[in-house]
Formats: sequence, structure tokens, C-alpha cells
Amino acid sequence: MVAAGKGLRAGGSVPKQFALWRGEPLLRHSVERLLAAGAHPLVIAIPADYRELAETALAGLGPVELVPGGATRQASVRAALEHLARCEDVERVLIHDAARPDLPRTVIADLVDALKTTPGAIPVLPVVDSVVRGAQGLRQEAVSRDGLFRVQTPQAFRFAEILAAHRGWNSEAEAGDDATVAEAAGLAVALTTGDERLRKVTFASDFEELAMTCRTGSGFD
Ligand code: CTP
Ligand code: MG
Repeated sequence: MVAAGKGLRAGGSVPKQFALWRGEPLLRHSVERLLAAGAHPLVIAIPADYRELAETALAGLGPVELVPGGATRQASVRAALEHLARCEDVERVLIHDAARPDLPRTVIADLVDALKTTPGAIPVLPVVDSVVRGAQGLRQEAVSRDGLFRVQTPQAFRFAEILAAHRGWNSEAEAGDDATVAEAAGLAVALTTGDERLRKVTFASDFEELAMTCRTGSGFD
């Protein structure tokens, strides 16, 4: 799991993974879901200077291993993969954003199933809105939605292959996701069905959403 970002778009006094979401740190939700799904060992990349806060956020949960993350997401993934490489018998890995606290089990089952036939698998959802290209605030042209998908995490890979792909990735280049790193190494990546509940908490307003639902959701006020 990667939890070493700064959460700049969300703002706040601590990186978003340590902020409260549904009453508990975002990170705690994400980790609980992965542990419940049987992910083991669970390695979490965290910002080097937030170790204490991470330990507090995860107190009482199952066994996890913390490693210092890097300056980019893929550097954090790499750090966690290198740690896993020192564990024995790792055959498959799920790479997951801490910023996606809600993780339905069916998504994991589909991903793991897909690894029987392809070295990688990612959960995706269709694009439902119209898509346009634009520049300088002006619409230029419509873009067909056909064959376009929104990509989520966790992303599943055969461990040896994704480790080699990350080791071969130019660390200067930003990768949108791990499937991009896999693709650059020539690995086939299957598409499985994603889930709206896997949405990424990105902005401060993503934390407010639930409070709004609660305020308007009760008919007894
Ligand atoms: N991440 C990471 N190491 C980094 C950057 C990101 O481990 N150097 C993690 C984040 O903690 C998050 C996930 O990658 O769980 C997805 O990244 P994103 O949503 O972009 O989080 P941040 O980079 O923290 O947020 P922002 O881009 O708004 O600063
Ligand atoms: Mg980011």
C-alpha cells in the first residue's frame, strides 16, 4: 500500500491519509480492508517523518510493515516492492492507494482470478460523462468515449514480473499507475470490473461528502 503522499490537493494540517474519514484515519480504513481480504504480508510506504502518526493510526490492527516512501508514487511503490522482495514466497501482489478507503471484496477476487491468465490486472469503470479536449479554457473537440475507462486500484500483478518492471522503470518519469510501468516492460494487463466505492479521496470536499449525506439523510430531524 502506498501512503507516502503529501495530500496537497486535500490540504489540511496532516497528509490526507492521516485525516479522519468516517471517524477514523483514512489509512486505517484502507489497511483494515486489505487485511480482511487476507493480504499478507502487508507493506505500507509512509512519509519518513510520519512514522509515529502512522503507528497510532494503525494501533491494534493486524501485522503490517512500514517502510519510508519516496518523492513520487512509483518511488513509494518501488520501496514497498523491494521490501516484499526480501520476504519469502511472494507470488502475487496487490498495489493499492491508501487514499481509497472503501474496498469491496469482489474486486479483489476478480483481480486475483485474472492473474491466472495474465501477469497483471486492473479494475476499471467506463467513462460515463461526455469527453472533450480543450485548451486555454476553450472547447476544442469531442473525444469518443469508446474504449475509454477510468482506472482504479488495487492493481494486481505477478510479483517477480512487476518487481522487474519497476526496477527497469526510469525513475525520472512519472507513471500514472503501475499498469503503465507493467506495460512499458511488455506485460499484458487484463481489465476487471471496478467499483464506484473505490473512488479516491483527493480533495477536502471528499471528506465532507459523508457529513452532508448524514445531515440530509435522516427524516427525524
Ligand atoms: N503516494 C505515495 N508516495 C508519493 C505520492 C503518493 O505513497 N510520493 C500515495 C498517496 O499517499 C496516495 C496514492 O499514492 O495513497 C495516490 O496518490 P494521490 O491521491 O495523488 O495522493 P497525494 O500524492 O498524497 O495527493 P496530492 O497529489 O494531492 O498531493
Ligand atoms: Mg499525488
